[in-house]
Amino acid sequence: MTAPLLEGSGITKRFKRGGESFAAVDDASLTLGLGETLAVVGPSGSGKSTLARLVLRLLEPDAGAIRFEGEDWLALSGGTLRHKRARMQAVFQDPLAAFNPRATVESAIADPLRIHAVAPRTQRREQIAELLRRVGLDPALSSRTIHEISGGQRQRVAIARALASHPRLVVLDEATSALDVSVRGQVLDLLARLQAEENLSYLFISHDLAVVHRFAHHVAVMDGGRIVETGTVDAVISDPQSRIARTLLAAAPRLNRKA
Ligand SMILES: Nc1ncnc2c1ncn2[C@@H]1O[C@H](COP(=O)(O)OP(=O)(O)O)[C@@H](O)[C@H]1O
Ligand SMILES: [Mg+2]
Repeated sequence: MTAPLLEGSGITKRFKRGGESFAAVDDASLTLGLGETLAVVGPSGSGKSTLARLVLRLLEPDAGAIRFEGEDWLALSGGTLRHKRARMQAVFQDPLAAFNPRATVESAIADPLRIHAVAPRTQRREQIAELLRRVGLDPALSSRTIHEISGGQRQRVAIARALASHPRLVVLDEATSALDVSVRGQVLDLLARLQAEENLSYLFISHDLAVVHRFAHHVAVMDGGRIVETGTVDAVISDPQSRIARTLLAAAPRLNRKA
């Protein structure tokens, strides 16, 4: 077996709340293979986004180790980290917050092409058109501004921007949660197709077990900062071991086979 793409162990992050320190992420360990989707599920406040931010190094952990593509990911800094960030990208819940709403679609996607020097300037326009086609958007959209396009289109632009630097891993933090059900299905289909085409790996943060069932291979269940259960999606859904997995399952009636 080849080494996993992402491997975290003992990841811990403490915050202060009302003067007291608490662990928002508490001794979390996870493994994600190439071309796989690991879902992280849990109720609001269980530490999912904090874990995502730690993996992305938008936050530094107080303890623990993270290996990415065989390297000590936490040891990287400066230019090496910037360079390597191309390989790990993110899409968040709210695309309006992620973009300058007055920016054009073209400039939103051009940023990573420029920062990661993926394409020479003369080829940038063609690369942007190609990225838009890959996420199912008409390249003619590139002159529109972010606030002029629909929520689903914006999330596709966010995916195109994430793909621009040729990542191996995309962290999706509630990336489809704000979308209408039908649009959400289309974006999930797109993500699945991109995964199959490029052997992409996803760390898929969600509070919705029904979406996770459809989309992920493995799942880690979080509660109070701790990962309380891990397994294949089918195993966790058919035979949940933790109280919180049973609660999440009860909230997803279509999945709840015992109901
Ligand atoms: N920057 C921060 N400072 C202090 N507390 C935080 C910060 N970020 C998150 N928290 C707290 O950490 C806990 C986990 O939050 P979060 O990771 O956002 O959970 P989730 O994404 O599962 O809803 C919550 O209690 C939240 O209030
Ligand atoms: Mg969150």
